[in-house]
Amino acid sequence: MKDIVWDGAPLTSEEKLIFALRALYSSSGYSPFRMGKFEEYDYYARNKDFLVSDSVITFTDTDGRLLALKPDVTLSIIKNSADDPGMTRKVFYNENVYRVDKRTGAFREIPQTGVEAFGKIDEKTLGEVILLAAKSLSVCAETYQLVLSDLDMLSGAIDGMSDSPDVRKQLFLCAGEKNFHGIGEICEKHSIPSGKEEDLKKLLSLYGDASSVLPEARKIFGKAYGKQIDSLEKAAGYLESNGEKLTIDFSIPADTGYYNGIVFKGYVEGIAGSVLSGGRYDRLMKKLGKNSKAVGFALYLDLLNGAGTETAERAGDGKRKTLNVALPKGRLGEKVYAMFEKAGFGCPSILDGSRKLIFENPEKGVRFFWVKPSDVAIYVERGAADIGVAGKDILLEYGPDVFELLDLNVGICRMAVAAPKGWKDDPSRPLRVATKFSRIAGKHFASKGREIDVIHLNGSIEIAPILGLSDVIVDIVETGTTLKENDLEVVEEIVPISARLIANKAGYRFKTEEIERLAANLSAGRREEKK
Ligand code: PRP
Repeated sequence: MKDIVWDGAPLTSEEKLIFALRALYSSSGYSPFRMGKFEEYDYYARNKDFLVSDSVITFTDTDGRLLALKPDVTLSIIKNSADDPGMTRKVFYNENVYRVDKRTGAFREIPQTGVEAFGKIDEKTLGEVILLAAKSLSVCAETYQLVLSDLDMLSGAIDGMSDSPDVRKQLFLCAGEKNFHGIGEICEKHSIPSGKEEDLKKLLSLYGDASSVLPEARKIFGKAYGKQIDSLEKAAGYLESNGEKLTIDFSIPADTGYYNGIVFKGYVEGIAGSVLSGGRYDRLMKKLGKNSKAVGFALYLDLLNGAGTETAERAGDGKRKTLNVALPKGRLGEKVYAMFEKAGFGCPSILDGSRKLIFENPEKGVRFFWVKPSDVAIYVERGAADIGVAGKDILLEYGPDVFELLDLNVGICRMAVAAPKGWKDDPSRPLRVATKFSRIAGKHFASKGREIDVIHLNGSIEIAPILGLSDVIVDIVETGTTLKENDLEVVEEIVPISARLIANKAGYRFKTEEIERLAANLSAGRREEKK
């Protein structure tokens, strides 16, 4: 973008972006919506689940009312607008919201721009909002992707699988992670019929350009979801006639209590997470007592700093993109590297015994980094690596927002509660638990209703009960030797652990072919070994 001078100073890239978006929305017939920074806290307390985070900054007004600094804009727009289902109101906003940053755990002021249409929502308005989402991304970066799903199709597939809300929640989580092996485990554990499991997997496998995916979706799901597929096709057709295109991916997660029908996310190359999020939220309108329908999206401007600085990486033949892979340093990493090599992604220099941490093979389009095993998920979640191999223990403990593509069936061990031989629990006081895995331990004992006092340690956990620092430990058990040599024994197994192939959710969009080829080859290699 060229330099624009305002009051003697050139505009920052964020200001230029805001102006460009404003021009885009105004020229499409959307009017600016202005609002104050405060809202009654009670409004957010009642609609807490709709917010990205539970925490809201509050203060008491001079008249004693509890107010909040806005953590969200959509709720305020709906509250302050008339409910007229007969006409369509179209607005856009550019406001700061105040939220806890998931990564730092601290409050931040976040600039957000967005579009909302509410009242009467027909196919044309829906298409128009989706087109504006795609055009917004095109203003932000050269390479971008708008990914669309129909939430009713995903929830339809999952709702029929189990009556238990908890099982359905687990299935939604796995769907959002593209975690097929996780879905398989849940189905096996809860005796879910294989036909239903296959249907969900088929739906989640439908990924790619709308023009190739939707005819396939119609073949498989046309009977049950003809209307939804029609709607996706109309949206795709409308975008195409306006020079934009869509990627279909039924794994997009969204809260089914608020959203319904079409939902979408936007990605730009070089930015680790989704920068745009939106969809139809008729259910939220209903919850707020409104008869109007609604669709809209928000663009997270803070994430866009630096967009487009990382251009599409090309390897040797000029076509293939370099895959950045974070491998866990140590014995497991060496085993995993051998699997990658067999899958056609070798990098011989990695074996030359040097102390270097980054190795590249441009010919195969791959770059490996050796990182601490517990850091792999961070490199992948933040996009420094496109993919990586992390233990399920780390994934459960830190809950990174990544795709979990494969169970590599190596690094097999279990997470367990262990205690000195002959130990008996004293339920009259909180159980003292020493662990590196505070979250896993907390969740496990909470599910049993047992109060605990977590003692977070960084290693050599087995010593804690011996020295009287804790009653039990929660730790990884592989061969059991460490426990045995320290006179401890497993009291209870929590979960089996193995190494998983994970992918950055944005990186996956731009390197789908490379990542899927690697995953398929790794999976084939694993099957061969099993024979
Ligand atoms: C892990 C784990 C146990 C040990 C279990 O420790 O924390 O201590 O391996 O293996 P085993 O059942 O085969 O004996 P790690 O080697 O990661 O070192 P740490 O004590 O520093 O965590």
